[in-house]
Amino acid sequence: MCGALRPADSGKKAVLMGWVNRRRDLGNLIFIDIRDRSGVTQVVFNKERDPAVHYKAEALRNEYVVAVVGTAKQRVPDTVNKNIATGEVELIAEELRILNESKQPPFLPSETVLSNEEMRLKYRYIDLRRDAMQYNIELRHKVALAIRDYLSAQGFFEIETPFMTRSTPEGARDYLVPSRVQPGSFYALPQSPQLFKQILMISGFDKYFQIVRCFRDEDLRADRQPEFTQIDLEMSYPQPERVWEVVEGFLTAAFKAAGHEIKSSFPRMSYDEAMRLYGSDKPDMRLPAMVDVRSAFTQEEREKFASAFKVGQDFTSLLIRIPKAGEISGTERRTIGTYGAFAHAQGMSSVSLMTDPNRFARDYPNSSERILQAAGVEPGDLWVLVVRKAESKQTALQFFQTCGQLRLDLAQKYAAQHGAFEKAGDPARDFRFLWVTDFPMFEWDGDSKRWNAAHHPFTSLHDEDMAKLETSFDSTGDPKSPLGEIRALAYDVVLNGTELGSGSIRIHRQDIQSKIFRALGMTQEEARSRFGFFLEALEYGTPPHGGIALGLDRIVMILAGADSLREVIPFPKTARAVDLMVDAPTPVSEAQLKELGIQVKK
Ligand code: AMO
Repeated sequence: MCGALRPADSGKKAVLMGWVNRRRDLGNLIFIDIRDRSGVTQVVFNKERDPAVHYKAEALRNEYVVAVVGTAKQRVPDTVNKNIATGEVELIAEELRILNESKQPPFLPSETVLSNEEMRLKYRYIDLRRDAMQYNIELRHKVALAIRDYLSAQGFFEIETPFMTRSTPEGARDYLVPSRVQPGSFYALPQSPQLFKQILMISGFDKYFQIVRCFRDEDLRADRQPEFTQIDLEMSYPQPERVWEVVEGFLTAAFKAAGHEIKSSFPRMSYDEAMRLYGSDKPDMRLPAMVDVRSAFTQEEREKFASAFKVGQDFTSLLIRIPKAGEISGTERRTIGTYGAFAHAQGMSSVSLMTDPNRFARDYPNSSERILQAAGVEPGDLWVLVVRKAESKQTALQFFQTCGQLRLDLAQKYAAQHGAFEKAGDPARDFRFLWVTDFPMFEWDGDSKRWNAAHHPFTSLHDEDMAKLETSFDSTGDPKSPLGEIRALAYDVVLNGTELGSGSIRIHRQDIQSKIFRALGMTQEEARSRFGFFLEALEYGTPPHGGIALGLDRIVMILAGADSLREVIPFPKTARAVDLMVDAPTPVSEAQLKELGIQVKK
């Protein structure tokens, strides 16, 4: 391989095959770097030594595919290249075969400045030749392999489930596949194997996993692709802790395969606490929590503060602290002040910000120090005090979310540039895992005026909350229904502010499953027609079961230090769900449509 030769190989014969990565023609000497996925080696063609081979090498251009036979030779000290593993040797060419030529590529794999992404995606095969992409794809392989090995050793079977199936409700739109044999009928590509893995529990495969493609037609973001890969698993008879133990085990193995030691067990936090302290259900634990500082005011200054901000005595105030933000200029501070405007844009009419430490100390001499201390503020930190009116129209939850977003925006701007966030490739990276537990079972959808399953409708609830489900039927469609208070046995695993995975203990009784469908506003007929097969299966001795699914792409993205899933998926789609290389989707022929019984409305 092109990355293999070392000084100890000096004098040995070698055959290298690969691409011409770079070529320098010095007249009597031609140097090429020959590249494959393992690295590059410098090859020397010497006119005096071997005029025929040298003559042939004059024809070489970038990305030609060649085979070179030669002798390895240690380089003289001042020509050593310390940046590459083969930098102390070169291959003196004795024979050259041009296996294939290449057109001049639109960009070169060896270029360090990246071409625009559209170009990269259109010529993905060239883009994938780049070091960084080769590294990411290898990393992906290693991570997936470590996970498979771990789960298999724990007694899990990898079992395939169909791609051409029925709709599973995971909250996105389905990709549909028309049936030719039954015109007008469609398969749905699975948004996840959710129902199949539950059926596998009913079938007695008590530990299932699958590294599996899922399909969702949803608005794309940097951490979302229309087809993505889950590490999906399910087991019979588990407590949540048992599922967490398995996940921590395979993540430890996966991170180890990528060269990182991580510590289990991961800390746990309820959804309510996560919202209150971080304003997010996927807290980035690398930054401090927000602190409620209202009680640190003296009585007198609390009143003064309330009237200065016109927020009423029962205001809520949160202090957001960004550590080691360094010197913040007056202009920057004023920019931060305009985050008030950001909050208004989020529909928060009653948020005010205090950002000026001097004014704060001057106006609240008896409280300011205690407040900053309560929030752990140290010299060099940036802090922002956010206040919410007592009788605000917005809910406390919305207030926490706005503050949480502000916290992340400030961190992006002021913590990142001051090195508080680790950089990609940093060996001592800070991986902060977290279990977020006790999610609400239902969430109110103001647009369609109905309750939706916050995770999915097969999620079990806390026993103590079961009564609320019983009493809530009349209030379906009422945003104030006790449905909003029901907690699910659902959990997420979060890493550095990214949701890696979601799971739950499932409902294993048909009567309760039917009640959930009813609470979601589904009639019995609707439930029967969509999930009849599943409700029926639940009646044939279903063991209690639970599981989880993690996004493999997201795990690899974080490990690779990439900022988009496209960097770790070989053939990804653009934000408009287009594959630029093969140019999909495309219109199809009239004949094909006719066969499927489909007419396209222009
Ligand atoms: P959920 O819908 O939360 O749960 O998905 C689980 C994990 O899959 C990843 N993920 C995605 N990754 C990339 N692009 C997407 N469009 C995308 N959508 C989801 C995320 C997410 O945390 N059946 C349940 C799991 C269960 O209950 O066992 C499910 O699919 O990392």
